[in-house]
Amino acid sequence: MSSKLWGGRFTQPTDKFVEEFTASIGFEQRLGSYDIQGSKAHAEMLGRQGIIAVAEAQQIIAGLDNILHDIEAGKMEFSVALEDIHMNIEARLIEQIGTVGGKLHTGRSRNDQVAVDIRLYLRDEIDMILDYLKKLESSLIQQAEQNLDVIMPGYTHLQTAQPVLYSHHMLAYREMFARDCSRLSDLRVRLNLMPLGAGALAGTTFPIDREWVAEQLGFDGVTRNSLDSVSDRDFAIEFCSFASILMMHLSRLSEELVLWSSANFNFIELSDAFCTGSSIMPQKKNPDVPELVRGKTGRVYGNLISLLTLMKSLPLAYNKDMQEDKEPLFETIDTVKGSLKVFVAMIAEMKVKGDNMRIAAAHGFSTATDVADYCVRKGLPFRQAHEVVGKTVRYCLETGKDIPELSLAEFRNFSDLIEADIYDFVTLEASVNARKATGGTAREAVERELCRLKSS
Ligand code: ARG
Repeated sequence: MSSKLWGGRFTQPTDKFVEEFTASIGFEQRLGSYDIQGSKAHAEMLGRQGIIAVAEAQQIIAGLDNILHDIEAGKMEFSVALEDIHMNIEARLIEQIGTVGGKLHTGRSRNDQVAVDIRLYLRDEIDMILDYLKKLESSLIQQAEQNLDVIMPGYTHLQTAQPVLYSHHMLAYREMFARDCSRLSDLRVRLNLMPLGAGALAGTTFPIDREWVAEQLGFDGVTRNSLDSVSDRDFAIEFCSFASILMMHLSRLSEELVLWSSANFNFIELSDAFCTGSSIMPQKKNPDVPELVRGKTGRVYGNLISLLTLMKSLPLAYNKDMQEDKEPLFETIDTVKGSLKVFVAMIAEMKVKGDNMRIAAAHGFSTATDVADYCVRKGLPFRQAHEVVGKTVRYCLETGKDIPELSLAEFRNFSDLIEADIYDFVTLEASVNARKATGGTAREAVERELCRLKSS
């Protein structure tokens, strides 16, 4: 009575609205080629194991290749009545090659099929994202190399703290994206196991060869428990967790780019290609790209929470709830890829206004700590040195002077340990270059780091 692949036990047609409500085909067409990849390996294995005839397996594989061709050419028509990508492809196969197509589903279920599809798809996307991340690291390294002379104010609490090399600041972000890369590579290892063979939940009665299928599909091995295989979505959650941390990093960089490109900071100029104007204020050049990436971070966090909440309290094994895993995962992938893609180019093209950074670094008493460290080297305990320099800064504020502008006599009003060599310690270069230990902002430390990054 029904044209559904599962229609046998039903006597009445599915309600039209329920059909639409339960269908996932509207949002999972991107899994099509992966579904076919998994099905081809499964069919070949069925032939090799004598579960179906080799000739039948060949017919099925050829049919699947035709469907893949149609999908790639945009000629495949998907039907909501067929619910999901798996049944759309299987129905088309049967339509094309006849009843032998019905043998494909031997020894498997949509539950292990969808699990393998998502893993194959996500693995490809991970490889693409790893590539973008490496490119973004290169853009940051290039910015660092090209601007080694630029000194900017380093901040804590967004108050001027100590001068730092702009290159050092860029390499701080490289560290974050390198950790993101390592997190993504770690989760790829756990993802790359093959769930096919779990069947609906308990395994299959047919003599399948899971290890062979896993090898054909480029998996490192097979999952070890059929119940877990069909009910596990940890890989999607881990991916969204990676993505949330990555977007947090991108949003921090975005925030700095927005601030730096404002008239008040005036530290950088983003290329026109990444900005837009205002429909009313002719002078405006808005940093839309970093603003949007900062904004999109919210939806990625939301998707992580959606997935965690989706999986919370689900009994073993597969539950239809899990069909809701796709949209958050897909949207996260699209958002991360788009954000990285636009950042790679925007960072590479960003112009640095080194003079303005330097002027800002010279203000705000950024070398005050260097005066305190100087007094400490002359024998004063640090706490007392802190007090001496605090008073010096107050004097500067009252007289409208900056630290390097003070005369020796003025310095000595606060401590007679201070001598003429103080002037060698309060320039921006001296302050920066004194911080030579690994991880410091001294030019030689940053150059060493750049060397290390380029040789790794
Ligand atoms: N479209 C389903 C999903 O995405 C495929 C698995 C369906 N399995 C089932 N027993 N209804 O989760």
